[in-house]
Amino acid sequence: MVNPLQRLVQMPGPDLALNDVTLPDGRRADIGFKAGRVVHIGALETADENIRCHGMLLIPAATDMHVHMRGGNQAEKEDWHSGTMSAIAGGVTLVVDQPNTVPALTSSSRFTNRVKEAVTNACCGFAINAGVAPEADLSSLWSAGAMAFGEIFAGPSSYGEALSSDDLAQALQAISHMDGLATIHAEEVRPSLAETMATHDSNRTPQGEADAVRKVCQLNSSGCQLHFCHMSTARAIEVVLEQRRQLNGITRDKHSNSKIFRTSFEVTPHHLLLAIQDFLPDDACTKVNPPLRDKKIQEGLWNMWDQIDVIASDHAPHTAVEKALDFPNAPSGIPGVETMVPLLLAEVLRRKLPVSSLIEKVSRRPCEILGLQPAGFLPGERADFALYSRKITLTDPRELHSRAGWTPFKGYPAIFPELVVMEGRIVFHNGEFLNQGSRWYPGRGYHAVD
Ligand code: DOR
Ligand code: ZN
Repeated sequence: MVNPLQRLVQMPGPDLALNDVTLPDGRRADIGFKAGRVVHIGALETADENIRCHGMLLIPAATDMHVHMRGGNQAEKEDWHSGTMSAIAGGVTLVVDQPNTVPALTSSSRFTNRVKEAVTNACCGFAINAGVAPEADLSSLWSAGAMAFGEIFAGPSSYGEALSSDDLAQALQAISHMDGLATIHAEEVRPSLAETMATHDSNRTPQGEADAVRKVCQLNSSGCQLHFCHMSTARAIEVVLEQRRQLNGITRDKHSNSKIFRTSFEVTPHHLLLAIQDFLPDDACTKVNPPLRDKKIQEGLWNMWDQIDVIASDHAPHTAVEKALDFPNAPSGIPGVETMVPLLLAEVLRRKLPVSSLIEKVSRRPCEILGLQPAGFLPGERADFALYSRKITLTDPRELHSRAGWTPFKGYPAIFPELVVMEGRIVFHNGEFLNQGSRWYPGRGYHAVD
């Protein structure tokens, strides 16, 4: 049988080549793409279209496994078009949408309608998670193509009610039975009014986050594969790592043959880069669940850098008007899909961390955890890339594409991509969007209906 890659290589030249890029390890090379794949990496590639990229850093595009694309009844906050333009302009070509829509994504018919809405309006790759609530039909959501389950609210949040322990244990059992992935929002919440960021933090404490992780692990008697969302403290991460050591459960990803831990976690850029002290006490723009913490806890998160599996944005846009409400009435959430890689690239360079560690967390690991073929430099890998100069700019909300129109990262140093390639085609160049198109990535349980 002819290997499909061999067939691609034998066809006349690549569709597109990026010449003289700098790779993450500092080497310089030409890279050629054909039919959505990398076909060549080396020297002197000529193609139908050649772009000279001297001095520019090329990295695989990111997969953001935690975004709230809104749309539907919440389109004034964001919709699939604005949200995915925002993704692309930030070097993200695949997003995983969360199901706490209004109404929640708890039935296969709602799920299928959401896929249709996204196929029509999105301009990057996407997957959609299934909502988990007592009334949710988990098995039909799985066969409708859900990528994973959740975020499952083990503590309440904006547009998400907490599940009871019994309901959560049952859901984990059902998901485990289907060999699915359960993604968890783990918090313990004191139901008292918060007037400031500091009281919001003391209603949703670091200890409560760690306790919630432990409790979810205890409820998981069926050994369901778990992914903990937006861990905001080193303390909670320690609990995840302790559980991982105890379970020692490892599976192998079928595409990369690399190890997948049965318990993984993500951290957001806002918990890494923002702290309570950086803002006015009652500034609701930075109200988010889990809350921002103090500077010491924030630095503790950076100390866990090497252990972090995934960086995801938890892109949760709300309108400027909603965020201007007084603190108790403003919704929680921060937009961040566009700023995730740019802010962290600047920070990784400043802290002298290897760029490869950022690529691992924003691109490689999310794909491994979700069972998606990763974007990468090897011939045959998905040709999704972003090209960066070393020019640091200051984040300006007027230049971002999310409908939210604001960012708590205003003025923060960032390196935005000059060019983005998706499936071997240029989709963004010097601020312009080209060749727009979407692709749905259904989960493993998908059964197409005729
Ligand atoms: O701050 C948050 N906002 N945390 C969540 O878990 C949900 C999100 C939202 O959807 O607005
Ligand atoms: Zn959450």
